[in-house]
Amino acid sequence: MQIRQIGDTKVSAVGLGGMPMSIEGRPEETRSIATIHAALEAGVTLIDTADAYHIGADEVGHNESLIAKALASYDGDTSSVLVATKGGHLRPGDGSWTRNGSPKYLRQACEASLNRLGVEAIGLYQFHRPDPTVPYEDSIGAIRDLLDEGKIQMAGISNADPEQIRTAQQILGGRLVSVQNQFSPAFRSSESELRLCDELGIAFLPWSPLGGIKNAAGLGSTYQPFAQVAREVDATPHQVTLAWMLAKSPVVIPIPGSSRPETIRSSAAAVDLHLTAEQIARLDRA
Ligand SMILES: NC(=O)c1ccc[n+]([C@@H]2O[C@H](COP(=O)([O-])OP(=O)(O)OC[C@H]3O[C@@H](n4cnc5c(N)ncnc54)[C@H](OP(=O)(O)O)[C@@H]3O)[C@@H](O)[C@H]2O)c1
Repeated sequence: MQIRQIGDTKVSAVGLGGMPMSIEGRPEETRSIATIHAALEAGVTLIDTADAYHIGADEVGHNESLIAKALASYDGDTSSVLVATKGGHLRPGDGSWTRNGSPKYLRQACEASLNRLGVEAIGLYQFHRPDPTVPYEDSIGAIRDLLDEGKIQMAGISNADPEQIRTAQQILGGRLVSVQNQFSPAFRSSESELRLCDELGIAFLPWSPLGGIKNAAGLGSTYQPFAQVAREVDATPHQVTLAWMLAKSPVVIPIPGSSRPETIRSSAAAVDLHLTAEQIARLDRA
């Protein structure tokens, strides 16, 4: 498995996104545990989660608990696995996603995530999404305090624009290690944040890299050049998409979501795919 870095921590170049195992359409728990175990067997050492990956209001942190259970029941070494969680988004149970970026709430959310993950400090804690009712500086100030107190080992942000990335970097005193934004063949407007992360040496974690749970199956038919390159290199359009992202910068670490062992195995294998400069240029234009 190829290795990349988040802060000083080495992680696999492709991570596992936990969301499909906990929101609408999620599989039985045994299949989810098998998926997480398959990721670990394939050398994946970054698992992305959030307290908001659940359905009912009474099961906040479903995905965090699932990951903690899968790690505890894995019979290999999990000491190098980085679990990256997030706070600041909520799901009241009616299918919607709401936000709360107040310092008081973020502290409570972090404490709850610590308990569910069963750790003394969270490896990477990400502020999930800016809350327009709370000054961004205040939300990031709360993340800085959690870092200073040792409740989290590293701090990241998500759904941030270039100005917010610079603000967070300043408030965290240069300790911002990751930015998680949407980026896929269908959604490329985060290219400016990706470039800024490359310039600043901050990890960039594309979310919904395959177009999202509902659209991932149709990736090759919607984006024909990805299917064409896939035929040329004897891979799948999904693997080509991940390889294309990885080629953009060494700071890129995609986190494809999976709910089946086969899909995460296939995603992990994409790190070994080599695309030519001509193929990459064609995909950039697609
Ligand atoms: N920060 C944020 O605001 C935010 C928002 C959305 C998502 N995320 C994070 O980003 C992760 C990824 O996003 P996502 O799950 O929404 O969408 P995605 O990764 O674009 O697509 C997920 C779907 O792709 C399928 N898939 C995965 N690998 C594949 C492969 N190699 N070949 C074919 N199909 C494959 C999976 O199918 P199966 O289910 O059949 O395995 C899964 O349902 C999430 O899990 C979550 O951790 C963050």
